Amino acid sequence: TIMNAFAKKLIAWHGVSGRSGLPWQGNRDPYAVWVSEIMLQQTQVATVLERYPRFMKRFPTVKKLAAVDIDEVLAEWAGLGYYSRARNLHACAKQVMQEFSGKFPSDPVLLEQLKGIGRSTAGAIAAFAFHERAPILDANVKRILARLFAVDGAIQDKAVNDRLWQLANDLLPNESKNIPVYTQALMDFGATWCTSRKPVCMGVEKKCPFAKDCQANLSDQVLALPQKAAK
Ligand code: ADE
Repeated sequence: TIMNAFAKKLIAWHGVSGRSGLPWQGNRDPYAVWVSEIMLQQTQVATVLERYPRFMKRFPTVKKLAAVDIDEVLAEWAGLGYYSRARNLHACAKQVMQEFSGKFPSDPVLLEQLKGIGRSTAGAIAAFAFHERAPILDANVKRILARLFAVDGAIQDKAVNDRLWQLANDLLPNESKNIPVYTQALMDFGATWCTSRKPVCMGVEKKCPFAKDCQANLSDQVLALPQKAAK
């Protein structure tokens, strides 16, 4: 079935063309994973590479982050933008200390109850830190799945969103040991190959491994999917 063939192909793609050797990869400390995912949400990888090690040195544990004044967190966040992320990081660190005895939960449903952690980030933390079979669905992954399965309808519609989460869940590799590389591969494939305006399938230089699986490609709808809300 395409379901597990997809994970296999995507992981093979990642071995050749995905990102590897990033400082937060291969780290199972949920605190380190969480900080990296929040930083990567609205900041480019190159900038995170410069700032993440410094942040981790300044606040090496959730306990230390929870104990400092918010002004110290904001000072360390200077230049990264979207400062609500820094406020949420601090509030979340306090929540983890008070409500979870300083240990991040592994269940994405519980992670999602923490400040600043949405459903997809909860899935990413559960996947990277705990090897949980938890799906992610950020904007890049929505684009991949909307194209692969030619899911039309505005991406903001609840029915469309529910369908994409269902697909994200169905496509997960069966073996939990493959979950971290699969999750990273999805993020990388969406960010670098299945891009919004210049997807690899539209060019001549590289060949998309999913060209013959992708319903949007087969029906010439790649640039039309995912569909944005009508204005
Ligand atoms: N954006 C969000 N999480 C990321 C990750 N783990 N790697 C690269 N980009 C990301």
